[in-house]
Amino acid sequence: MVGAWGESDGEAARTAVVTGASAGVGRAVAVALGSLGWTVAVGARRTDRLAETVAELEAAGGTGFAHRLDVCDPDQVEAFFDALEETHGPAAVLVNNAGLGWLGAIAETTPARLRSTVETNLLGALYCTRRALRPMLAGGIAGDVVFISSDSVLQPYPHMLTYGATKAAVEYLAAGLDVELGGTGVRVTTVRLGPTVSEFNTSWPEEDLIGFMHAWERLGIRQDFNYLPTDLAARAVVTAVTAPRGTKVSLLTVRPEVTRNDDPRTVWDKARRQGRDER
Ligand SMILES: NC(=O)c1ccc[n+]([C@@H]2O[C@H](COP(=O)([O-])OP(=O)(O)OC[C@H]3O[C@@H](n4cnc5c(N)ncnc54)[C@H](OP(=O)(O)O)[C@@H]3O)[C@@H](O)[C@H]2O)c1
Repeated sequence: MVGAWGESDGEAARTAVVTGASAGVGRAVAVALGSLGWTVAVGARRTDRLAETVAELEAAGGTGFAHRLDVCDPDQVEAFFDALEETHGPAAVLVNNAGLGWLGAIAETTPARLRSTVETNLLGALYCTRRALRPMLAGGIAGDVVFISSDSVLQPYPHMLTYGATKAAVEYLAAGLDVELGGTGVRVTTVRLGPTVSEFNTSWPEEDLIGFMHAWERLGIRQDFNYLPTDLAARAVVTAVTAPRGTKVSLLTVRPEVTRNDDPRTVWDKARRQGRDER
């Protein structure tokens, strides 16, 4: 049976993995997939926060499975999937969401920040994808692999270049994987998000944020600015993984609708307040 867009197809509920599901977009995706009645395995380093995610996704109608996961550690990735498969069987859906980004000019960025960004956003997605694909391909599972990207790939963001470079690499990976997996029944989607309310952009050190804003002002970059709520970002993932079989959603770009603000000096302040208030 073929389902409708945005709905589960009524056949056996699927098992999904969401990385970085202790907060923000990942938690919202886990809850949205739970509301389809699916089993959702959530991974992150803060396991106390994962327990909250499981409670929310089970209240929404799903079955939760939480396990510690540092996507930068291939042994932990292996252990996460082993534990899931023992309990619930292989995943049919992987959402590569775990990610981080630091602010700062390249010349002033520490090697540790460069490394953690590349390891988390790119290598982490690679480790999880290769591990999730093995049982999908061996079992002929009709699967979905989703990569959460950022609209920073569209226009380089000064003071966020390492982050943007990892997301550009992730999009390259996704586009290639789409071809590599053609005919296997595993679909690949890039969900490219605009600014979204989460800890990602409300926990930056004040001095880094000021440097970022000054760089943008100096370069004359003006952008209409607003934030997406995480539950609306999550709906894009639901749309992709529930697309009727026989179709595939390769790229979804979701950006916040802009509330007009004519005074450029207050734009950032408003955006930051909004992020804090809705956290
Ligand atoms: N917020 C935005 O404006 C925005 C815009 C475009 C795209 N995105 C993308 O959306 C995704 C989610 O970000 P968010 O906004 O929801 O940020 P967030 O609120 O900071 O959440 C990030 C999540 O990633 C997890 N994570 C970080 N490092 C990890 C690691 N090594 N292993 C496992 N999990 C890890 C964190 O969990 P632990 O710390 O518990 O491990 C947390 O659950 C990221 O890929 C980000 O690039 C965000």
